[in-house]
Amino acid sequence: MTQTYKYREIYLKIKQDILSQQYNSHEKLPSKRQLANDQSVSINTVKNAYEQLFAEGYIYTKERQGYFVEVLNKLIIQDHHVSQPLNNNPTQIKSSFRYSLSHMTTDISQFPIDFWSKHVKEAFSTFKNEMSEIPIYKGPLELRKSIAQLISYKRGVSCYPEQIIVSSGTANLLSTLFKTLSDNQKIAIENPGYSRMRKLFIDMGQEVVNIPLDHKGLSVNTLKTEKPDFVVTTPSHQFPTGTIMPISRRIELLNWVTEQNKYIIEDDYDSEYKYGTDNIPSLYSLDKNDRVIYLGTFSKTLMPSLRVSYMVLPYPLLYKFDLATETSITDLSSINAYALHLFIKSGNYEKYIRKMHHIYTEKRELFLKILSKEFKEDITIYDMQAGLHFLLNIKSTLSYKEIEQKAHDNSIELYTLRRFMVEEPANSSIKTLIIGFAKIELEDIEPAILKLKEIIYN
Ligand SMILES: Cc1ncc(COP(=O)(O)O)c(C=O)c1O
Repeated sequence: MTQTYKYREIYLKIKQDILSQQYNSHEKLPSKRQLANDQSVSINTVKNAYEQLFAEGYIYTKERQGYFVEVLNKLIIQDHHVSQPLNNNPTQIKSSFRYSLSHMTTDISQFPIDFWSKHVKEAFSTFKNEMSEIPIYKGPLELRKSIAQLISYKRGVSCYPEQIIVSSGTANLLSTLFKTLSDNQKIAIENPGYSRMRKLFIDMGQEVVNIPLDHKGLSVNTLKTEKPDFVVTTPSHQFPTGTIMPISRRIELLNWVTEQNKYIIEDDYDSEYKYGTDNIPSLYSLDKNDRVIYLGTFSKTLMPSLRVSYMVLPYPLLYKFDLATETSITDLSSINAYALHLFIKSGNYEKYIRKMHHIYTEKRELFLKILSKEFKEDITIYDMQAGLHFLLNIKSTLSYKEIEQKAHDNSIELYTLRRFMVEEPANSSIKTLIIGFAKIELEDIEPAILKLKEIIYN
């Protein structure tokens, strides 16, 4: 038996005896020499065990008198208390599907991992000093500068790096923003809309109002009656319907917030992908009165697991935000943040987006072609030529729940309109499915549609 093992054994035995009150408080422990003799170990081994017990506060020393037991209450252990492992907690286990038609996933098969790894290494050597420090709340200035250039060029968002906050997810950014504001803000959310965001605001105790949509996007008339303080909208590609807000509605919306001194939160989650025509300019680029908070993310262009998102704050909100977060610690990983900065700066990000644009165009076109061929007049496709998903209206006698369950049973990851509406959609013979085409492989598109056909018609 090694001395190390013996030291642990002596330490654990005495600790257990103290905790179970085999020793009285202030009782003297055997001398090191005596215990070493009894246990046939070296004095040093006993000394190590006693020093560990002393460091943890089980025993104390009196000069030249030895070690004594501290005054400890008996640790209560309830008879019936048995901890159960949560290994099989169904809410924390994600199924993996044969076919993903999810709007939340991206294709990472072509991700230039070698370049990314090179940038991670480069980040570590170039920003050595920053790596060893607690990062500032808003994210590294270098990354904020890269993002400022990127969104100025791509989205017409002209801002200073100091207006940008980078964090691990849109929800973090918004919850921090709202913590810096006074309580009880009234927030308008599109219905149907991004259900996670609705839940976030409800969980934060904010007042949420649901705003219906028409063919131009969110209804400004409803805003006029509800008078919210903030309006969350997805104008470039309404989530989930896909509607692109025309300029007439954008002006109407901007004018309303300007006159009322309110704010728009523009969730520009997937605007990098536009098919057929150029990208749609952001609402932020049209605003001349500091009324728009701009939200962007790398979840769609790179991958959702990277967890890098950003927010551009207009100046009226910035000072308070900076003050409130002055001593906060970011949850953004610096190594990823600097690697992303180098990825953008090197041009590799742009190159990757161009490549993925090509791949997504191909997948999307094949999807539309095979869907039309297989379902013919039983479907209507709301193809807005943008983003990574589209809406599919399909004739079916099945309920939404049945469609979801059957898709699940057939190993298809599929979501329906039900997920994004406040109220259960009307039980009509037409059901609306959200078809995400990013993750599925090209050769799997036809088999997935044929499976879907089986589900819908059987
Ligand atoms: C509508 C919408 N907004 C925002 C986001 C971005 O969320 P995050 O940046 O937290 O990944 C997503 C991501 O899927 C989304 O679907």
